[in-house]
Amino acid sequence: MCGIVGYIGARDATPIILNGLKRLEYRGYDSAGLAVLQNGKIEIRRDAGKLSHLIELVAQSPLSGTVGIGHTRWATHGEPSARNAHPHIGHTGRVVVVHNGIVENFLELREELAAEGVTFNSDTDTETIVHLVEHYQATGLDLTEAARRTFKQLRGANVVVLLSADEPDKIVTARIGNAGGVVIGYGEGEMFAASDIPAILEHTRKVTFLESRQMAIVTREGARLETLDGEPVEAKIHTIPWDPVAAEKGEYRHFMHKEIHEQARSLADTLAGRVDFQNGKIRLPELNLTPELANRIQKIYITACGTAAYAGMVGKYLIEKIARIPVEVEIGSEFRYRDPIIDENTVVLAISQSGETADTLAAMEEGRRKGAVLWSIVNAIGSQAMRIADGYISMQTGPEIGVASTKAFTAPLVDQYMLAILLADLRGTLDEKTRRQLVSDLRLVPDLAGRVLNTEPEIEKVAWALKDIRNCLYLGRGINMPIAYEGALKLKEISYIHAEGYPAGEMKHGPIALIDETMPVVALVTKDPWYEKMISQLQQAKARGGTVIAVATEGDDLVPTMADHVLWVPETPWLLGPVINVIPLQILAYHIAAIRGLDVDQPRNLAKSVTVE
Ligand code: M6R
Repeated sequence: MCGIVGYIGARDATPIILNGLKRLEYRGYDSAGLAVLQNGKIEIRRDAGKLSHLIELVAQSPLSGTVGIGHTRWATHGEPSARNAHPHIGHTGRVVVVHNGIVENFLELREELAAEGVTFNSDTDTETIVHLVEHYQATGLDLTEAARRTFKQLRGANVVVLLSADEPDKIVTARIGNAGGVVIGYGEGEMFAASDIPAILEHTRKVTFLESRQMAIVTREGARLETLDGEPVEAKIHTIPWDPVAAEKGEYRHFMHKEIHEQARSLADTLAGRVDFQNGKIRLPELNLTPELANRIQKIYITACGTAAYAGMVGKYLIEKIARIPVEVEIGSEFRYRDPIIDENTVVLAISQSGETADTLAAMEEGRRKGAVLWSIVNAIGSQAMRIADGYISMQTGPEIGVASTKAFTAPLVDQYMLAILLADLRGTLDEKTRRQLVSDLRLVPDLAGRVLNTEPEIEKVAWALKDIRNCLYLGRGINMPIAYEGALKLKEISYIHAEGYPAGEMKHGPIALIDETMPVVALVTKDPWYEKMISQLQQAKARGGTVIAVATEGDDLVPTMADHVLWVPETPWLLGPVINVIPLQILAYHIAAIRGLDVDQPRNLAKSVTVE
């Protein structure tokens, strides 16, 4: 997701904002801009390109003022260009806004505004926000109320920061959906609002965070927090420690916990720059996928290890279903020993968080030796798996520190979904309506992830109930079968509890013998094409006395009658279900391990990057 920095104080806002944006550069972006209140007027500098370019623009045409907002953008609506770069200013020239996220209902809002005669200067969803604020100001509302009305109309996961030349003593910010963050920093006679802590750490260690559907009116003296319905909220002020590792963990005890919670945002980052919602198209430029190549691919081998291999199993499902290309998944440590059948029309696609896993790299070498096209989906930028591939997709999730992979599991699921659409589009095997629907569904993902993350207190209660178990069985079918594997892997690697993932249909062929009152069963029973089959599996497990923990879709009233505990997930387009369904299993594993007092981030015998065979 994009980066945001806002400042209000006594110092010159420009260098503070530019330095803050610099600290967020690691997250990637394609445009940058800032707006400063200068002599009662809003002045903007913005363009496509890197921050260094923005700094040059500011040097050529300096800005000075003590209130301002800045932004680094990753394009979602409209190409990277000066007109699409943030900040976006309204037609009065008196209100300016920066924004992170996706306004899910932006086409609707844009049409309504256009019907009122509003014209648009960009292709962005963001611009609707500034026009809506002006629309409400024109009815006589002040900035805070106009902003509140606007925020309440936005659907999806969004963070907004805005200011007005008519009320120069404040910045208004909000976290509207369930993804993305706003951190408010407290200084002496100055205040900050940013998307991430590093942007403001050099100025203050006293911060507060906005929860979903909260807004803040930030002045030089402090911040007033409210819900979007106008209820006052007491700000909980945290002091960020000086120790750099602890500072990086922010409010979390463990990196794994932090990384689980980063997923709403990392999933938004995964989409950034890749999805053209207006035209229902996917862009993956680093993959070097030409129409000629797309049309000659006859087979894809996905190769990876551990969690990444389970991501590949979901990918097989997605690519076969959407692009109708045969896919085989082979774990990295086996690939080169089975003499795979490969020619120049075969793609070997490696998935790796670190990009340095020895077995995955060896599998890639085998693919290269036999003449395959080599692709990779990698998190660590510049790693070998990225360098040796003919094309790659970067996960765009930011560094993952916890040994147990979480955000680097959900990102490649979305990457493969996008890859499948792109392949199908280039091969002409997807009708336009379906393609547009598949692309449009992506906009829901960050907010859906955020909604699951909000259920953590209920999941933690289940973790307390399970803390002493010795074994656990995870069951899933179809596209959620790999999620059963991944849920089991998460539990075993950090809690040292024996856990097995199984395709639910295989139960009757053996594993059902294991089920008794000492064997809890975690079942993925969400509303997908295998729902009814999973219900009967659930009944069989229950009949044998096992404690049943079901991952179920909100609103389902059948599953709770059969399960001892339910981990709820919101209704999700089923091809994207795995992205959402795995999150409660990550949280469950995390809490069981944390309750048992284990070293969650560095479990025994495991390394983050396995660089030996
Ligand atoms: O860096 P990689 O994604 O290539 O790592 C692959 C596996 O070693 C890794 O996913 C491992 O299974 C994790 N500990 C899972 O949480």
